[in-house]
Amino acid sequence: MRHAIIIGTGSYLPDNRLTNDDLAKLVDTSDEWITSRTGIKERRISTGETTSDLAYEAGKRALSSSKLSAEELDLIICATITPDSFMPSVACIVQQRLGAYHAAAFDLTAACTGLIYAMAVATSFIENGMYKNILVIGAETLSKTLDWSDRSTCVLFGDGSGAMILSSSEQKSGIMNVILSSDGGKREHLCLPAIPMANPFVKKDETDFRPTISMNGQEVFKFAVRSITDLVKSVLAKTGLKEDDIKYVVAHQANARIIEHAAKFLGISLDKFFMNLDRYGNTSAATIGIALDEMVQNKLLKSGDRLILVGFGGGMTSGVVLVEWN
Ligand code: UT7
Repeated sequence: MRHAIIIGTGSYLPDNRLTNDDLAKLVDTSDEWITSRTGIKERRISTGETTSDLAYEAGKRALSSSKLSAEELDLIICATITPDSFMPSVACIVQQRLGAYHAAAFDLTAACTGLIYAMAVATSFIENGMYKNILVIGAETLSKTLDWSDRSTCVLFGDGSGAMILSSSEQKSGIMNVILSSDGGKREHLCLPAIPMANPFVKKDETDFRPTISMNGQEVFKFAVRSITDLVKSVLAKTGLKEDDIKYVVAHQANARIIEHAAKFLGISLDKFFMNLDRYGNTSAATIGIALDEMVQNKLLKSGDRLILVGFGGGMTSGVVLVEWN
């Protein structure tokens, strides 16, 4: 049986830092409100770099840390809700820029759970023997989708990209278990419209429409806490592991209070939950990849460590991956 192991990670954040005090000059908010309600202190905002620029940089770094050449990649999956264009995909742009001439490439949309879904797809391609080396990227420029006059959303998000290389191995480690879930019935709680319906036969004129993120914060909060709690419990039950067998939980970085509530309901020490949302805010599909790369850079992970990666987001979607570090 082949296993998918993580052999490289990379991340990339735009240089431009936007602090809570900077935001207080744009909308009626304060560092005190944002910090106490979310834990976020600052985020990175693109000054022109596109999602494919961010994805390329993170992908290049993941490739370099894996020691593979671009030509050894069989597939590139980019999870994003903020592509440069519907076509070409971000993954195809990255494929050409990396020189990954043998790789197939496509984008995947599962909002903030995108990286978990992409890891699940990549793992099944590796386990069924179709591909050996897969670059998985989560990349977003959410700043272009924000209503910068809406204080209830514009303070939460940031731009960034995280990536990893999954590779086929005989080793019984790496991605040990995956659970994905969706609830389309709750889809109206977190929305980002695409091109509105328009053709000569549609009466309504929406030519000035600019799509922006809208959200029912409290409903998303409840969904998030429930998703993390239920999925962590489910993956532990499925694998027969106990809380003590887990070194770290890397939850989607949306709000420190979401993570604190989930930790309390699970009875898992908050110390096990890696957090960097104070510096980057919510970068949607990118958060878990950025966090994992930071953990690698900071040498927090050693062979045999078990981690739980768990995400939630628009759709609504959620998912969990149990990893045994190799
Ligand atoms: O990837 C998933 C993405 N989304 C999320 O993770 C969002 C999950 N939800 C949340 O994180 C929280 O619901 C928020 C941080 C968005 C909001 O926190 P809350 O404790 O649920 O606040 P609220 O929506 O109940 O608003 C409380 C008050 C309101 O004022 P009034 O009506 O009580 O006078 C808001 O208008 O806070 C006000 N408010 C703000 N005040 C200062 C909302 N945003 C701000 C702001 N600065 N940025």
